Amino acid sequence: MERKVLHAQGPVCSRLIAGAWRWHTISPEQLDKLVRTALDQGITTFDHADIYGDHTNEERFGNLLRKNPSLRERMELVTKCGIKFPSAKRPDSRVKHYDTSADHIRWSVDNSLKMLGTDRLDLLLIHRPDPLTDPAEVAEVFSRLIQEGKVLHVGVSNFTSSQFRMLQSYLAFPLVTNQIEISWGRLDPLFNGDLDLLMEFRASPMAWSPLGGGKPINLEERELFPFAARYNATYSQLALAWLMRHPSGIFPIVGTTRPERLEEAARSITIRMNRQDWFEMLKAVMKREMP
Ligand SMILES: NC(=O)c1ccc[n+]([C@@H]2O[C@H](COP(=O)([O-])OP(=O)(O)OC[C@H]3O[C@@H](n4cnc5c(N)ncnc54)[C@H](OP(=O)(O)O)[C@@H]3O)[C@@H](O)[C@H]2O)c1
Repeated sequence: MERKVLHAQGPVCSRLIAGAWRWHTISPEQLDKLVRTALDQGITTFDHADIYGDHTNEERFGNLLRKNPSLRERMELVTKCGIKFPSAKRPDSRVKHYDTSADHIRWSVDNSLKMLGTDRLDLLLIHRPDPLTDPAEVAEVFSRLIQEGKVLHVGVSNFTSSQFRMLQSYLAFPLVTNQIEISWGRLDPLFNGDLDLLMEFRASPMAWSPLGGGKPINLEERELFPFAARYNATYSQLALAWLMRHPSGIFPIVGTTRPERLEEAARSITIRMNRQDWFEMLKAVMKREMP
């Protein structure tokens, strides 16, 4: 599996990332098998958020690390903060809202470290843009968390280009990624400037739901038959290879709960897609030619 820096200043991540959003649906034994399969395939980067599994997934993953401490040295941990919603686990939240106050970011990092059973986060992301963000306050808390060694790198998720540029302008260190939804089911970032902006800042995108969350995409399966044969690849392998062909260096986050599908996904890294095939697939998804 290719390993690559998200930004010149780090971190190094596996080109395919394993996403923990759906992992509360599997048993601890299945999780153990999934994580070990990922590592065996060279998928060493794991994407979490404080809220996944109604605030339980970080702890489930942490239980695995507490049982097998040596695994931590073989992986990079990404987590997110800033979303709050009403939950028995968070009785203080009356309404779904975002909180990027320094107090909450610091509290959330300390809590994620405890849940995940680690002393450092390789990457901390602001989960969604918060209209009440004070960027100077975020810069200050990011800077302190980095100085303290609790967080090694920072980034954002679901930010527009102007939100990314604005926050970056307050920081003395780079936002190393914007984690956004990109797939055959959501092509907007190709055309709305999101990927251009990341290339301008020399930061790589992470793609969430790269397989459209497993939902059928705007594409007849038969339209992919020629490509499946040409590349000896499955539908999901083609979809991932298609994303990784983009020069912004997209890191897809695969959300499967099944080890065999992680193995299937890992094969996509070896596919080098021909330029015209790439456009032919785009045409099939868009149902029209490029202008
Ligand atoms: N930043 C954000 O706001 C945000 C939002 C959403 C997600 N995320 C991150 O992105 C990650 C991925 O999201 P996602 O789970 O929606 O991604 P995905 O990889 O597009 O979808 C995974 C889903 O597709 C199903 N699936 C069907 N066929 C598959 C195949 N051949 N290979 C793999 N999966 C297949 C999986 O089911 P099985 O489990 O049965 O295989 C699973 O339910 C999340 O875990 C999370 O880390 C971030």
